[in-house]
Amino acid sequence: MSIPGELTSVDAAPLLCAGATTFSALKKSGAAGGEIVAIHGIGGLGHLAIQYSNRLGFKTVALSRGREKEPLAYKLGAHLYIDTESSDASKELQKLGGARVILCTAPNTKAIAGLINGLGIGGQLIIVAGVNGPLQLFPGQLFRGGRSIEGWHGERPGDAIKFSVLFNILPMIETFPLEKAAEAFEKMMSAKVHFRSALKIVNRGSNLNCLQGRRPVVKPNTGVLLRNAIHVQTGFVGAAADFHVRPPQ
Ligand SMILES: NC(=O)c1ccc[n+]([C@@H]2O[C@H](COP(=O)([O-])OP(=O)(O)OC[C@H]3O[C@@H](n4cnc5c(N)ncnc54)[C@H](OP(=O)(O)O)[C@@H]3O)[C@@H](O)[C@H]2O)c1
Repeated sequence: MSIPGELTSVDAAPLLCAGATTFSALKKSGAAGGEIVAIHGIGGLGHLAIQYSNRLGFKTVALSRGREKEPLAYKLGAHLYIDTESSDASKELQKLGGARVILCTAPNTKAIAGLINGLGIGGQLIIVAGVNGPLQLFPGQLFRGGRSIEGWHGERPGDAIKFSVLFNILPMIETFPLEKAAEAFEKMMSAKVHFRSALKIVNRGSNLNCLQGRRPVVKPNTGVLLRNAIHVQTGFVGAAADFHVRPPQ
């Protein structure tokens, strides 16, 4: 897959995973323009999901802990903001008529379970977060109103890339040189990074690979990445790396 000239490789890399995941989840949900779509968690996935939801024409509700990210949520395109710490998000969503879709990007099963009652009739809870335990619910929560819960993983990154270019949707990223991978990892693990860490592998070799349409090969300091159990997912072209924590293989 080629990356359009409008995007830098650094911007494109997060779109290939976080972008593809959230865009494809919203697109396949079947929600129609004007319907309520809530985005749970404003992090790497969530900050892109808010942008996609807005541009896809949904009434976009951002759900986040505290009020710190409220101004950002509106800037990204949220129409409404709910502080999940000071209010019951489900009740607030019901006051709006119930959500057609709640896209769960926050990796906390208790928080996710607490949102099921915020779904409207036929509403879908779509979980893209890797969650930390069993999800507890009463089946009655689902059959009242024909609600459903589903999991989703990203697909068709090319579609997310094209849509992002069309609507000028960009990830917010902090870039680090590859030598600072350990620092980037620490910032990511302590959730201090806003919102994607990109390892920039800038050297003539990788740019050449980009021009030649080959995947850049990550050579320097891969030891530090492996020791920290970071999986480096190179951008398909260019000198950018979007990385994710993976359990050691
Ligand atoms: N399905 C897929 O294909 C796919 C692809 C990529 C990633 N993922 C998964 O998606 C999840 C999110 O990734 P990300 O990169 O967006 O992570 P992230 O940048 O850390 O953001 C997660 C957000 O969730 C909220 N959150 C974190 N801990 C929470 C807790 N204990 N309780 C309630 N809310 C909490 C926070 O938002 P607020 O501060 O706004 O509350 C945080 O910013 C991860 O589990 C990742 O593995 C899945």
